Amino acid sequence: MKNNIQIKKVKNICCIGAGYVGGPTMAVIADRCPNIRVEVVDIDKNRIKQWNEKNIKNLPIYEPGLAEIVKRCRGVNLHFSNLVKEKINNADMIFISVNTPTKKKGLGAGKASDLRWVEESARQVAKFAKGHTIVVEKSTLPVRTAEVIQGILTSAELDNDKEEISFNVLSNPEFMAEGTAIQDLEKPDRVLIGGDNLEAMTALLEIYARWVPKEKILFTNIWSSELAKLTANAFLAQRISSINSIAALCEATGADVREVSRAIGTDSRIGSKFLDSGPGFGGSCFKKDILNLVYLAQYFGLNEVANFWESVVNLNNWHQNRISELIVKKLSGTVSGKKIVVLGFAFKANTNDTRESAAIQICKDLIEEGAKILIHDPKVNEMQIEKDLNMKKYERVQNEQEQKLFINKGSWKFSEHLNIFDDAHGVLLLTEWEEYKNIDWIEVSNKMVHPGWVFDARSIIEPGKIRATRLNLWRIGDGTVVTENQ
Ligand code: NAD
Ligand code: UGA
Repeated sequence: MKNNIQIKKVKNICCIGAGYVGGPTMAVIADRCPNIRVEVVDIDKNRIKQWNEKNIKNLPIYEPGLAEIVKRCRGVNLHFSNLVKEKINNADMIFISVNTPTKKKGLGAGKASDLRWVEESARQVAKFAKGHTIVVEKSTLPVRTAEVIQGILTSAELDNDKEEISFNVLSNPEFMAEGTAIQDLEKPDRVLIGGDNLEAMTALLEIYARWVPKEKILFTNIWSSELAKLTANAFLAQRISSINSIAALCEATGADVREVSRAIGTDSRIGSKFLDSGPGFGGSCFKKDILNLVYLAQYFGLNEVANFWESVVNLNNWHQNRISELIVKKLSGTVSGKKIVVLGFAFKANTNDTRESAAIQICKDLIEEGAKILIHDPKVNEMQIEKDLNMKKYERVQNEQEQKLFINKGSWKFSEHLNIFDDAHGVLLLTEWEEYKNIDWIEVSNKMVHPGWVFDARSIIEPGKIRATRLNLWRIGDGTVVTENQ
């Protein structure tokens, strides 16, 4: 990096990547910093078209509070486009917010992050940036990725054919969670800035300081910042695997996981958050970030460390499997030809994201066992489910021969409404959407086949409401066996 560079006040931001992080993060920056022009660019034409949709309800991402901000700022100081070159060219600060999925092939496949999109972004910055540019890693990256980015940028600095350009690289990982992204971005627990150039770090701090108290903005070295992000996700996921392992033990021993969570959560050293047992953690990041950590540990020969963290993912896989198996067992050992209503497909409530959702594996397992699945989700669309299950929905059988073939074959359908309980043998609740709390279970019970079962993997249904019906209830981590109306 060149020395003696005067860093100017940031006036033009460009964010590469208009995804679940780039979109909401930049919307909040634009909202809080009206004198900064924020340009969000993406190579995905369709995604940008959706961000520019006139009807604010059709944004590519569903996130409470996001549409209101986009409505206020879009076309004012927040812009979405595919003009990667032009917007990089004009920016004095560039956020790299592209996807970093687990590598599918080659060295480290199945664990290491695939950095091709990050590298490509860095190359575009090297090619099109002008003057001095602060490059901010917003994507979650393996430790020492900044070195790779810096290497690409340094070679551009040294390119004598180009006019004078220079860069600083900072790490500024994002800690927002989907479903509460706007709230998390507006009131973060902390903002982490890793770097080795105080002036560049201060330029980024000044942006956040418009709405985040300064004591919540932490400075670290760049490697600590990268590792802290992976570690935070690993610790959070570890809590979920821990409580889910205890849920299984509760079911076997007559204990109740909600009572256990409450009892341990009041210990201020443990704390009460992230102790809700569910169908297993999903989302695009927990699994990928832990596997990334596992890869790093293996790379440095720390096999015990690698095994420790890998067990968090293994427990999660086992747990999801356990749920589909127990459904089959409760439904008299077979679900073949039986209708099962699945409530919720998103990996958590208040998002339309289905990446790594527990619903995907559980539905696939039940279809494999021959069940007829009817899926409802208030925000996930049918096309997304088709992609996730990698299977066309069941349309209509054409003739008798097809009818015979169909009878014992698993299949799925989607419903936009909740009038779907007729002739169902089971109802499986997988996402904690608010509207599922108000279901009239007496009415549902009257429509279902008996003995019928309700499987509540999120414990949002009041057991008393099921007790008032002819239905049986299984709820996650409940060893007290609520109803047995068989
Ligand atoms: P995403 O897949 O929703 O979005 C990434 C976007 O980057 C895509 O739209 C893609 O088209 C675009 N892109 C890829 N290469 C590009 C290029 N060269 N030029 C322009 N655009 C390009 O991913 P996401 O969920 O927003 O996650 C992004 C990063 O943030 C990941 O590293 C993730 O681990 C991290 N993260 C995600 C969350 C979350 O809640 N989703 C939270 C914190 C951190
Ligand atoms: C998570 C982290 O919470 C964020 O801090 C981080 O920025 C983000 O990953 C990321 O790096 O992508 P997210 O995956 O969006 O956020 O959502 P979480 O609320 O963490 O939930 C993850 C999964 O754990 C969901 O399937 C959720 O249902 C499950 N969960 C969460 C439980 O089963 N029990 C709980 O008590 C909490």
